[in-house]
Amino acid sequence: MRNVLVTGGAGFIGSNFVRYVLRTQPDVFIVNLDLLTYAGSPENLIDLPSPDRYEFTKGDICNQALVEDILRRHAIDTIVHFAAETHVDRSILGPNAFVQTNIFGTFSLLEATRKVWLDENKADAKTVRFHHISTDEVFGSLTADAPAFKETTPYSPNSPYAASKASSDHLVRAYSHTYGLPITLTNCSNNYGPYQFPEKLIPLMILNALDGKSLPIYGDGKQIRDWLYVEDHCEAIWRVLEHGQIGESYNIGGNNQPTNLEIVDSICEILDELQPGSPYQPHVGLKKPVADRPGHDRRYAMNTDKIELELGWQPKHGLREGLLKTVHWYLEHNDWIQAIRKQKEYQSWLEKNYTERVEGRQ
Ligand code: NAD
Ligand code: TYD
Repeated sequence: MRNVLVTGGAGFIGSNFVRYVLRTQPDVFIVNLDLLTYAGSPENLIDLPSPDRYEFTKGDICNQALVEDILRRHAIDTIVHFAAETHVDRSILGPNAFVQTNIFGTFSLLEATRKVWLDENKADAKTVRFHHISTDEVFGSLTADAPAFKETTPYSPNSPYAASKASSDHLVRAYSHTYGLPITLTNCSNNYGPYQFPEKLIPLMILNALDGKSLPIYGDGKQIRDWLYVEDHCEAIWRVLEHGQIGESYNIGGNNQPTNLEIVDSICEILDELQPGSPYQPHVGLKKPVADRPGHDRRYAMNTDKIELELGWQPKHGLREGLLKTVHWYLEHNDWIQAIRKQKEYQSWLEKNYTERVEGRQ
């Protein structure tokens, strides 16, 4: 039995990962440590497969004593560290929480592992692993025809979110280099799929379109992201845990390059098909240009040769297939949507981020 501590397992990717591991790995016990911020919800974790192999602890990754206690009590041998503040727009309006959770929180987790795994248990690379989840945003922004980011591309983060993630990546590497902590690290592109909080592009557009609200396009909408269906990300993480080289980082991505406008158009087309009776047809009519995000990164692209060649991983979902599955999921989970819409914090975020944005202003 492998005992895995997942941090941030009540959020979007973390909850998909918990579900994926319980479904596919019969010999794993999971402890999920999550503070349940606005982005985390127990409703992301209902109907888990094999709930007897799962335990939830509400708590802060910055609480080192709590983490040490979990490591000892559950004989944790693997940490998969998702917990973070994750929304670029929020990091622009309030960077403080990003520095606290993403940098100090990661430091605190590393200190707990140094003490319990390395000092007390004299653990080595055969017995423990700290896996850190990072993002393509640490590499900065690409011009239209620049080659995709490689694992060796120098870090050049532009937003407070990206800078805080880059800092945490550096700490993780330093603990490997200095103390011999057995680590692996993955940098992944934009994820989408079930349980994504509707502050991010794809679920925000789906929910707004269902309600006949405008679809806010930042700037000219020609920014490019590489989109990955979340289950493919979970599979890649597990592959790295099982077969990745200690001390190495791996890029993960969906190998696609749509503009934001193309993504929104695809969502609108899918909704036109799936909701033929909607009074908001054609949904593309809801698109509305709004003021751009300050410092908006133009393009991200991932070179995923390393994980493909060394570990044999490739995404299983094409973009159209993944978007179709995602829209279906939101249409079938109205209770989940209503619970979020009722959150005061969510309503006040929408007001704060969108009512101030003047139409079409750059
Ligand atoms: P999310 O915002 O949906 O969830 C974050 C989770 O972390 C929430 O459940 C929240 O309650 C928890 N959390 C926040 N602060 C905490 C604290 N101090 N202690 C304990 N728990 C805390 O995030 P996500 O989109 O699922 O992203 C997960 C990870 O993947 C992050 O590290 C993010 O940087 C990385 N990532 C995300 C994407 C993406 O497209 N979403 C892409 C690449 C990498
Ligand atoms: P987002 O989902 O916030 O992810 P990230 O900024 O981490 O890539 O945004 C994806 C892209 O969509 C990004 O270029 C910003 C843009 N965007 C909009 O145009 N309108 C919106 O309302 C949001 C939330 C994002």
